[in-house]
Amino acid sequence: MLELLPAPPADPLWDLAAAYAADPRPERLNLVLGVYRDHTGATPVMAAVREAEIRLAERSASKEYRGLSGNTAFNRAMLTMVLGGTDGPADRATAVQTVAGTGALRLLADLIRVTRPGTTVWISDPAYVNHRPILEAAGLTVRTYAWPGMLDDLRAARRDDVVLLQGCCHNPTGVDPSPETWEALADLACRNGWMPFVDLAYHGLGDGLEADLWATRMLAARVPEMLIAVSCSKNFGLYSDRTGCAVVLGRSRTALRHVETALQNAARTLYSMPPEHGAAVVTTILEDDGLRAAWRAELDVMRGRITANRADLTAHLGALGREGEARALAGQKGMFSTLPLGPEQMRRLRDEFAVYGTASGRINIAGIPAHRIPCLARGIAAVLEQPYAVAG
Ligand SMILES: Cc1ncc(COP(=O)(O)O)c(C=O)c1O
Repeated sequence: MLELLPAPPADPLWDLAAAYAADPRPERLNLVLGVYRDHTGATPVMAAVREAEIRLAERSASKEYRGLSGNTAFNRAMLTMVLGGTDGPADRATAVQTVAGTGALRLLADLIRVTRPGTTVWISDPAYVNHRPILEAAGLTVRTYAWPGMLDDLRAARRDDVVLLQGCCHNPTGVDPSPETWEALADLACRNGWMPFVDLAYHGLGDGLEADLWATRMLAARVPEMLIAVSCSKNFGLYSDRTGCAVVLGRSRTALRHVETALQNAARTLYSMPPEHGAAVVTTILEDDGLRAAWRAELDVMRGRITANRADLTAHLGALGREGEARALAGQKGMFSTLPLGPEQMRRLRDEFAVYGTASGRINIAGIPAHRIPCLARGIAAVLEQPYAVAG
């Protein structure tokens, strides 16, 4: 039977990661995946996470099953962090622990489907590579809106449609809406009746935690209903611990009465219960004033490194005569930037300069060791000079 399986499409990002792993050049640079790296090229365990793990190891008494909603203290802590307190919008919100941001996206997609089968979900073009597959796997119809400059397209979004927006540090472009555009999006959602679905994966890595959560909180204060998928992968460095949370805001507590059960039912058929470790780590950090402050300080250092990398790359590109590209780069935020390079130019960057980004031109700004920036800028400038040359 298995020989009947048609060849499935390969995951382009993991294919690139495998090509990188097999590349013998010592100077090879992996800018494919969205992973923070420090100046040595390592993705460290954050000190606050390490300390929380030590405390947990000393006091953990059992690994008994948790419930389908996961760690309830974690869910409360995430609601407070994301919505900025326990009153206001948090008062009409519920949260369920998920298998990272991806699990939250999928659970919320399932919630949309059971609530209203056939709903259209709008995603950005370009979008995070997994948005469309996750939504379609849940049986939803997907349409796209231009990013940036989404307002015109979204005027066509109807009542009961859902609009998936990245709350900050847009993947893959690094381009975020201005505060005025966010307000205009909230106006449009209120006027036309569509529901915002915010994907939060990089809060703390753009302008700072509070600033990066501003748009999400502003929307939450203004719209009657909203979905939020929260990932702890990047800002707690818990990539492999698969930690995240699905948040649902309703008109009232009563309106939410079936939501948690619906999310639990979705989780039951996908993975039953989420893993406890990362959620326990995050809860330990967020519930302890000292650890929380230490985590925020580390997050600020990570953000500072990303900002410095971007500024340095911008300066080098400018010095090489690529002022236009440098200006575009300077206005972007977060881990990613999309370079104005096509697949062939990205292949040249890989073959001639040992720099791995995605075929669509996306590079991970957080993955560049500082001393490699001049060389990266030279590579980008070189492939921009000869856009159509094919490397031998
Ligand atoms: C925009 C966006 N959303 C969600 C995720 C999901 O992250 P994870 O499932 O690792 O928490 C990512 C990961 O790269 C992302 O870039």
